[in-house]
Amino acid sequence: MGSGQSYPSVSATHSAPSNIALIKYWGKRDASKNLPLNSSVSLTLSQDDMKAITTVVASPGIAADRLWLNGEEVDLSGNKRVRAVLREIRALARDRAVDGGGVIPGSVLRTWKVHIVSRNTFPTAAGLASSAAGYAALVHTLADVFNVGREVGDAMGEREAPGVLPSGTLSAVARQGSGSACRSLAGGLVEWRAGSKVDGSDSYGVQLFGEGHWPELALLIAVVSEKAKGTGSTDGMIRAGETSELLQHRAGVCVPRRLDALKTAFLARDFPSLARLSMVDSNQFHATCTDTYPPVFYMNDVSRRIVACVHAVNEKAGLGVIAGYTFDAGPNAVIITTRQHVAFLLAVLLSHFPPSASDLTAPGGFVSGEALGGATLLDGAQKLIATLSPALTPTSDAPSVEGCIKHVYATTVGDGPRVLGKEDALADATTGLPLTIGKAGGGFEKGL
Ligand code: PMV
Repeated sequence: MGSGQSYPSVSATHSAPSNIALIKYWGKRDASKNLPLNSSVSLTLSQDDMKAITTVVASPGIAADRLWLNGEEVDLSGNKRVRAVLREIRALARDRAVDGGGVIPGSVLRTWKVHIVSRNTFPTAAGLASSAAGYAALVHTLADVFNVGREVGDAMGEREAPGVLPSGTLSAVARQGSGSACRSLAGGLVEWRAGSKVDGSDSYGVQLFGEGHWPELALLIAVVSEKAKGTGSTDGMIRAGETSELLQHRAGVCVPRRLDALKTAFLARDFPSLARLSMVDSNQFHATCTDTYPPVFYMNDVSRRIVACVHAVNEKAGLGVIAGYTFDAGPNAVIITTRQHVAFLLAVLLSHFPPSASDLTAPGGFVSGEALGGATLLDGAQKLIATLSPALTPTSDAPSVEGCIKHVYATTVGDGPRVLGKEDALADATTGLPLTIGKAGGGFEKGL
């Protein structure tokens, strides 16, 4: 196709997972480039239940970059993060073959505007890392549309080959949208290496273990509040960097030690160590929030009662350490366990926090999770409640409180971004306009 020739539009649809950090990212060494103070490690969550799906359409007929999120258009004019992602991906654009013959030169492709249509399959909830899934899906889909090339590991000789991107390139782009998003470009256990270069080129996510390494792991995500959090993570981190001495100690001394211990525990599939490291790191992250001036509080009374339930189970059920918890920048609890203990832990949670009648009958049910069989799991857990020892059931000091847990996602560790087919497209392949306008879940936690 020569110049002046009309090119067909290009489109792609991908999905990406959310992730939950076991060693948290908190604090920035460079806020403008979104570079972290410390390395962090997360588990990628299964996409069976929770994922972001994004369609991107690029075409010479599209007049301006536009974005629709969960059925509503988002103004991109002041959105520095999405614009940074678009700029970085366009700079990597390469010649793209067209179905039926011909090539769109990279120099032409990078001038095309895009329509982006994205949705989350889970509601916005403080601490559910929806922005991680959203930016990972955005970057992965744009990379396909602009044909930026494939990433390889550090295979000798391959790095310089045409069409080969240095490993971590896409993750580093996602990082500029949302820090935690750089860990959603791979499955399993992923480390975001803080890096030390001023330009941030060595700060990206690296898979440490694939999702198949420890298939017994399971997670229960208890949604305590669906309200967006009061203090956004960027503001919280910047304020902590300015005022918390504990943050410096954590980043310099505690996190490096914990990262090594976590890798050793994961390699050996040593659950008690994994659980303990997750708990102490979550507790310390929230302690740095309290140490921030003025303090920031993300956990609430229900979160703290869930912490107490997990410790009671580990100490009193006679099964050893079978659960850990971790809380992001919000009150929702992520309980880490193994598949064999999921129903039992759910029973303990339900006895302390019985669902309200309306949450029980909500569309999709009170417990969702394909991999672990949500509805069956709820039935099993309800039957187990009667068998719980008195040490694990609510006392008169801490009576059960109805309706405090609104929903539970029962899930597993999953894979990285997926390329979806035309049947999953969210936008018309030519105009890029959304195919259906409607809310599938809430908006992104922090917005793209
Ligand atoms: O990437 P952000 O800005 O969403 O910050 C994430 C911060 C935590 O979720 C609390 C920790 C983490 O490592 O994901």
